[in-house]
Amino acid sequence: MDKLLVHGGATLRGAINISGSKNASLPILAASLLTAEDCIIGRVPDVSDTNYMIQILSALGASVERSSGTVRISCSDLAVEAPYELVRRMRASICVMGPLLARKGRAVVSLPGGCVIGDRPVDLHLRGFQALGAKVEFEGGNIILTAPDGLRGAEVDLCGTHGPTVLGTDNVMMAATLAEGLTIIESAAAEPEVLDLANFLNSMGAKIEGAGTRRIVIEGVKALHGTQHTVIPDRIEAGTFMTAAALAGEGVTLRRVCRDHLKAVTAALVKAGHRVDFNAAGDICTVYRGDDPKGCDLVTAPYPGYPTDMQAQMTALLATTPGLSVIKDTIFAQRFMHCAELKRMGADITVDHGTAVIRGVAQLSAAPVMASDLRASAALVLAALTAKGTTAIHRLYHIDRGYEHIDEKLLLLGADVQRVRD
Ligand code: EPU
Repeated sequence: MDKLLVHGGATLRGAINISGSKNASLPILAASLLTAEDCIIGRVPDVSDTNYMIQILSALGASVERSSGTVRISCSDLAVEAPYELVRRMRASICVMGPLLARKGRAVVSLPGGCVIGDRPVDLHLRGFQALGAKVEFEGGNIILTAPDGLRGAEVDLCGTHGPTVLGTDNVMMAATLAEGLTIIESAAAEPEVLDLANFLNSMGAKIEGAGTRRIVIEGVKALHGTQHTVIPDRIEAGTFMTAAALAGEGVTLRRVCRDHLKAVTAALVKAGHRVDFNAAGDICTVYRGDDPKGCDLVTAPYPGYPTDMQAQMTALLATTPGLSVIKDTIFAQRFMHCAELKRMGADITVDHGTAVIRGVAQLSAAPVMASDLRASAALVLAALTAKGTTAIHRLYHIDRGYEHIDEKLLLLGADVQRVRD
């Protein structure tokens, strides 16, 4: 197990490239199960979550080759049971359900267990499959989906108590590509990753309209074919480095970003007193730390709102921003594990019912801290950049799930970090 030592106080400057999106890659890799022909997917980030997904596809019978960000997948024959040992490691494994059900008429996938950021049920995924005519059963910790006579298009509303579901929308959209007739998904997730998946599916011959809005219409086709696709930039990785730049930077440039996907994060950083400049094409941005940063209030919301996946990083920034800030997470109310660790570094944060009240302190001080989940670990790295002394962040494997070579990128920007064996 690795840990990251962050020696606080270095100023970040220079430029780095942002990687392809983890959360777009995962369902796109799973969607390649929908065809027997080759799919070639570019800019898949080298992170452990994409590696888990590739292992699951291989265990299902796919042949997978990976070389510097490009993955070629060919699935001429497929098993229908995703092995528990692999599925239990990553909740996003559930997005093989839709493709398996559509292509094979049966899928057996472990019910995802508890997750540190919240309860994370799958009822909405199952509601969608049932609407398409699948039978849903549970046995031995598995979800068993069957549709021996194929799926039929239907109208389904995927709104849950916390709003739309990203992977649920992905799953139902993938299943519906091969259903007979028309499927309409109401209250669909509108995240850019859903649109990227729809673009991938359409390039395989699917007929999907409206992805990226709350209403997606899918006309089922008989079969899908092979394709080539390049994954969109990772807006959460970009947002994390933008926040790092606001915290400890002096002009940090991020290449291969997408301005449209970063509107909420940009607005939040500007509200907190920092400057974000994009080039005319909107694919490069430079972030400057403001001279007079100030606390602000934020509420997470489904896209295009402020992303829950950027809540922890912003909390780290506001921990040393003068004034009072209030952050409410409406999507995962329990996603505040990082606050307990930030408090051990001297932050003044009170968490109650999904809301963090942060009183900015002048400086944090280094302490050994424990990463609890992917974005919480990113927040600890950010906090450590300006803390007094050397912070040791244990359980670094959490960060390796979703940030491609984060230590190397930080080193490129001038941070003083070291990955060492724990
Ligand atoms: N929900 C239900 N029932 C369901 C599904 C979801 O009630 O059947 C609830 C969830 O409990 C949550 C809300 O709906 O309160 C939204 O969850 P969603 O289903 O959208 O989450 P997800 O699709 O499982 C993806 C990302 C997460 C990100 C969320 C929200 C991937 C692989 N994961 O998860 O990313 O936080 O959407 O935007 O795309 C991360 O990258 O760190 C991460 C956790």
